[in-house]
Amino acid sequence: MAVPTIQAVRGMNDVLPAETPLWQALEDAARAVFAQYGYVELRVPVVEATALFVRGIGDATDIVEKEMYSFEDRLNGESLTLRPEATAGIVRAAIEHNLTYERPQRVWTAGPMFRHERPQKGRYRQFHQFDAEALGFAGPDVDAEQIALLSRLWNKLGLPGMRLEINSIGDPDERKAYRAALVAHFERHARALDDDARRRLRTNPLRILDSKNAALREVIAAAPRLLDSLEGESSQHFDALRLALADYGIAYTVNARLVRGLDYYNRTVFEWISDRLGAQGTVAGGGRYDGLFEQLGGKPTPACGFAIGIERVVLLLREAGRTSVDVPDAFVVHVGDAATKFALATAERLRDAGLAIIVNANGGSFKTQMKKADASGARWALIFGDDEAVAQRVALKPLRFPGEQIALPPDEVAAHLQTRPS
Ligand code: HAM
Repeated sequence: MAVPTIQAVRGMNDVLPAETPLWQALEDAARAVFAQYGYVELRVPVVEATALFVRGIGDATDIVEKEMYSFEDRLNGESLTLRPEATAGIVRAAIEHNLTYERPQRVWTAGPMFRHERPQKGRYRQFHQFDAEALGFAGPDVDAEQIALLSRLWNKLGLPGMRLEINSIGDPDERKAYRAALVAHFERHARALDDDARRRLRTNPLRILDSKNAALREVIAAAPRLLDSLEGESSQHFDALRLALADYGIAYTVNARLVRGLDYYNRTVFEWISDRLGAQGTVAGGGRYDGLFEQLGGKPTPACGFAIGIERVVLLLREAGRTSVDVPDAFVVHVGDAATKFALATAERLRDAGLAIIVNANGGSFKTQMKKADASGARWALIFGDDEAVAQRVALKPLRFPGEQIALPPDEVAAHLQTRPS
């Protein structure tokens, strides 16, 4: 009789040889962008004391309540846990090795995380993150910088359809006052709540705002907003973050209901979301956690960080038909003699700036060339016709992101291609 085969554990996936080149290319791209912003790698263990996550992430969170892979050390009975995320471990390491003693540190790490969730597309029990943490920075400049770093990475990967949501959840005192107002609101509407919300009313009322139950939509929409009650420093912090994002040219929406699933956050929280992944659309999320060092026994140390879900990025790339992350920055479309001359000179200047540019060969109408531009995977089409030649301006059309076509003088094109996601 044949011996039954053994399968991988549910929700824990093999990355097969056909897929590893995409993972590696993605890892290279992330490493390069982290280095550009001064982040250095820090590696922490996959197993930590359970108490680290209970204290760090919060005992009323979904992760700690029901998703941790915990087990007893056979020798001394100590409870250990496969890390569900990296931030708590990094802060533990920073405290243990006094990493921020002399100066603040920008660090990143990557690897597997474990959460006992119900597996579905984009949600697994073993998944992988890139995680970056700025330790010892009070912000808000560093908050904005991290968001800009991610924008640059999406841009580098040509990742389609990414949008940014931000919010501020204030400081602990403000949250305490808000929590009381929120509990009063939900108690007034107790009959409209489901069992989960009723339970959370006592343990973690802010998480009710995250409920996916459509029946709760109205009572949630009518709830007071924490963002409206912020004052003083945390309100100034949020205003400064918004100004900094505007300086970076990064578009965002303020989502006053964004609370995130971990308890260590204060002030800034943000998520980069793709609408192409269904229910699991959050590709990266993060925020500020100024109280976590103290909560874990360290000295007060302000900090901010984020993590990217690698599987979700890979899904987006694969669904866009991509087998590699090395796409050209732009595809040059040109029709007419004067336009072609202008196009070739501009393409050379862009290559001097380090950009990868494909120039259409073998002629063709605008329409045919645009089709080739789309098929090339390039992030932008640079369009040169008679009008552009006369005006000496280049028309830039985003191919992977929603956005209007714009016209720029040739010496402004490289900077635009390098920094703008769309
Ligand atoms: P998180 O929002 O729990 O944050 O996870 C970050 C990202 O990891 C999510 O946006 C998602 O892309 C991915 N992810 C989470 N759970 C799963 C899963 N079950 N399957 C696949 N992908 C998943 C954190 O983990 C924080 N430590 C981020 C952070 C760093 N905040 C400050 N510093």
